[in-house]
Amino acid sequence: MKKKICVVGLGYIGLPTAVMFANHGMSVHGMDINVDIVKDIAGKKLHIEEKGLQEELNKAIDSKSLTVSTEPVESDFFIIAVPSPINADKTANLDYVAKATSSIVPYIREGNLVILESTVPPKTVENIMLPLIKESGLEIGNEVFVAHSPERVIPGKVLEELVNNDRIVGGINERSAQLAVELYRTFVKGDIHVTDATTAELVKVIENTYRDVNIAFANELAKISERINVNVWEAIELANYHPRVNIHMPGPGVGGHCIAVDPWFLVELQPELANLVKLSRQTNDSMPKFTADKVNNVFNEYNINHGRVAVLGLSFKANIDDIRESPSLKVIEYLDEYGIDYSIYDPHIHGIVMNGQASTLEEAVNKADMILILTDHNEFKAISPETVEGLMRTKLVLDTKRCLDVGVWRRAGFDVRVLGDSKTEGGIPKE
Ligand SMILES: NC(=O)c1ccc[n+]([C@@H]2O[C@H](COP(=O)([O-])OP(=O)(O)OC[C@H]3O[C@@H](n4cnc5c(N)ncnc54)[C@H](O)[C@@H]3O)[C@@H](O)[C@H]2O)c1
Repeated sequence: MKKKICVVGLGYIGLPTAVMFANHGMSVHGMDINVDIVKDIAGKKLHIEEKGLQEELNKAIDSKSLTVSTEPVESDFFIIAVPSPINADKTANLDYVAKATSSIVPYIREGNLVILESTVPPKTVENIMLPLIKESGLEIGNEVFVAHSPERVIPGKVLEELVNNDRIVGGINERSAQLAVELYRTFVKGDIHVTDATTAELVKVIENTYRDVNIAFANELAKISERINVNVWEAIELANYHPRVNIHMPGPGVGGHCIAVDPWFLVELQPELANLVKLSRQTNDSMPKFTADKVNNVFNEYNINHGRVAVLGLSFKANIDDIRESPSLKVIEYLDEYGIDYSIYDPHIHGIVMNGQASTLEEAVNKADMILILTDHNEFKAISPETVEGLMRTKLVLDTKRCLDVGVWRRAGFDVRVLGDSKTEGGIPKE
């Protein structure tokens, strides 16, 4: 008999995970509280963009290895992959995790394993999940097993990374960890490292915090470089030739559900100790305003009143459709505040999600005084100046991701400014 898994939450993480188990010999039931998502998935329609997922979903539904509904079912394993956002005051919102856990309690039977995959502050399994699971009446660690296995996949490469990444499995006891390792071995080819649940929770938060701090460093270097007339991109690239240096790249801010959120878990946990972590968050959060200020300054330099910007890129990183915590949203808020007119274009965002959104590049750049690149989608890297120059009012570009070929654009008569590179500001550009 096939083993049964119930996956709770069918988003960017839960759906690929459910599909993966379903196509590797397990009988999977996916549940989500969002009726529209459940309907879409049942009809083999994706609500998220992810390379290769459509084919895998078709296979899983056609073979009946994956069923979906808005309710959990009795299973051997439960995997919870629901959101774990922060509140407006930067504290963790663990309501989704608590509600999802409560929802499976009536379905838990002796011998079951419950795995939390959501990224959470250390001690969430211990302090929030275990008391709820206890309500099943089963003895935790003996009759019901619990583990945390944080997900580390990157959007756009989820199916590949689910298989090949190393995994961390943290059990509330050894048996829980061992059961979780056996389950993930169904398809995971990477190493599986075993620890306790709280360490696993901290590991995931550390990983994202490391990246946030590193990006904050790059952003600070970008600001410094602009003041001292150095190209920060070149400086970082050269520094990274050192075998033990790996500095990330600057940009208009940090977005997404993970890096912009998880460091706050540490700040909330130990506010007096997490000083570097907090400052890094603040530094990265300062970048949208820094970017909008640059737009404003360039318009002032050009004596452009009520200028119009073609904002290219809404999603928080290249080649994906996710706009959660995207710095673009903040940049647009500042443009609004400064009375700067804008149109927005993002080929990865299907449908209109914001005022001012254009459905083609041509529509977005029409009568624009500046192209503002906020996301380095492949489509933007491929834009040639010839396709837009006849439509624009002023030939200005501000590239916050250094994704355009500056030389090509300049030869076409554009004034190209690059974040973190004041060498390109004003006057004759160096090539
Ligand atoms: N997206 C990523 O790249 C990524 C990477 C690593 C870790 N994570 C973590 O994984 C977790 C899930 O993230 P995501 O990106 O998949 O989120 P998501 O918003 O794409 O999906 C979550 C799904 O859970 C559903 N849901 C909410 N409450 C529910 C409940 N009580 N019962 C059933 N379904 C419920 C929502 O309707 C939604 O469809 C988060 O903790 C996130 O930090 C995400």
